[in-house]
Amino acid sequence: MAKTHHVRIRLNGAQKEADVDPRLLLVHLIRDVLGQTGTHVGCDTTNCGACTVLLDGRPIKSCTVFAVQADDEEIVTVEGMTSNGQLHPIQEGFHQEHGLQCGFCTPGMMISAQALLARNPNPTEEAIRWGISGNLCRCTGYQNIVKAIQYAAKKMQKGVTA
Ligand code: FES
Ligand code: FES
Repeated sequence: MAKTHHVRIRLNGAQKEADVDPRLLLVHLIRDVLGQTGTHVGCDTTNCGACTVLLDGRPIKSCTVFAVQADDEEIVTVEGMTSNGQLHPIQEGFHQEHGLQCGFCTPGMMISAQALLARNPNPTEEAIRWGISGNLCRCTGYQNIVKAIQYAAKKMQKGVTA
């Protein structure tokens, strides 16, 4: 068996450590070793975006990154979006605008939306569609996902100007 590596990550604000096989993918560290199963695995081949998480603030497909590459980094998954039991405006937007059907793509979609709104708080519809272009949804036709992100952008802007 290959030598294991000791990995330390900050996952949704909590320090976590594990000894991992060097080939272990980040998504499997998050789900199988650390037990946070909100991040989904749809394809395992960098296509669907269901596994999207923030690595040091950047959205990445965690099925394409080794766990050891995340050593000493900050990871945010869908579980880390709530604060004090309150839904994040993006989560609220998906609820209000019916931005999901089966929900499989939703965690990755919301993380991509979070990254988009962090770099562009007031995106056009086109910018939203580009922002989620790495995330595939087989159910919704995307229209309500776009509306959900527009809802969140408005609410977050109000929060800034209030
Ligand atoms: S599971 Fe990672 S992109 Fe599909
Ligand atoms: S809601 Fe089913 S894949 Fe997007």
